Amino acid sequence: MASGDLHSLLVTTVVRVDPDQPDPRELAAAGAALREGRLVAFPTETVYGLGAHALSPEAVTAVFAAKARPMGNPLIVHVTDRAGAAEIAELTPLADRLIDRFWPGPLTLVLTAREPVPEATRGGLSTVAVRAPAHPVADALLTVAGVPVAAPSANASGRPSPTTAAHVLADLAGQVDVVVDGGPCRFGVESTVVDARGNVPSVLREGVVTREQLPDVAADGEAHRSPGSRFQHYAPRCEVVIAPAGDAPARAGQLARQGHAVGLIAPQPAPASVRTLATPQDAAALGAVLYDALREAETSGLDVVVVAAVAELGVGRAVMDRLRRAAAG
Ligand code: TXA
Ligand code: MG
Repeated sequence: MASGDLHSLLVTTVVRVDPDQPDPRELAAAGAALREGRLVAFPTETVYGLGAHALSPEAVTAVFAAKARPMGNPLIVHVTDRAGAAEIAELTPLADRLIDRFWPGPLTLVLTAREPVPEATRGGLSTVAVRAPAHPVADALLTVAGVPVAAPSANASGRPSPTTAAHVLADLAGQVDVVVDGGPCRFGVESTVVDARGNVPSVLREGVVTREQLPDVAADGEAHRSPGSRFQHYAPRCEVVIAPAGDAPARAGQLARQGHAVGLIAPQPAPASVRTLATPQDAAALGAVLYDALREAETSGLDVVVVAAVAELGVGRAVMDRLRRAAAG
């Protein structure tokens, strides 16, 4: 590393907390760090977030720098409840209904931003994305911090999202003040992002809350994608091959015979020459293990990972979206 970079490196502190009943006293320093404009990574029910004071342009700019994230890609602001959302966004009748039904939970609402939200948080748009996470640690941290917290996934831009504190440290050690370790994330797939300004929700990013669960979803087109979908995403440092479900083990075996170091993520066990990374039995289980398995593949030096496709129904839609992006990287 060039010596000129040294001043920008921090000592990252890791705070372990009980995932189900975190002690607010153990989160006091992390909450103060957020209030003071420093960066704190924390678990949510979807993936780990890289948090910063959402109303501080300096703090938010530091998030973009730590992740090397393009400035035009806006951040999701995390709040504890409807009142917290109403301080930063214009709530609509549709937003009220969705909040009643899905919060706290993995549904992000895009709404017209209110005055205090800085341009950097909005990525230059007139809207702001807001969600109340359903993770006891995220909720306790937001309560202790007492400020809205902008948090993208806590990976370096373009990498698989982090589902453990170890993943966060692999990408961002030295770039973040505190990592709150609350164990592995439950879903492993990000929140669903919907535009809730109109009368019906329009899906901007597929996620844990499915189209089937949402009321009267608007017909979707390429024009209505979140800005983030323009950028390369979720790519590990090895090749990802998507195979039809039943064919995945045979395809993995064939690649191994050609001399590749191959891993398999499929419901069935791998042939002898192939490393079994995970054996998820359905789309939700694949979502929960996918990012971790891709990171394990790269740390164990594999050059190809074969993943068995799942049906694009329910959460399978979001999982296949992430998988295709990982394969495109
Ligand atoms: O589950 C999640 O959503 C996680 C956890 C930490 O909450 N966060 C997350 O953030 O995935 P990020 O930054 O990795 O993805 C946010 C997505 C991006 O595609 C971004 O473009 C979109 O939400 N987004 C944010 N603000 C938006 C806005 N105002 N309008 C449209 N899309 C927006
Ligand atoms: Mg992300």
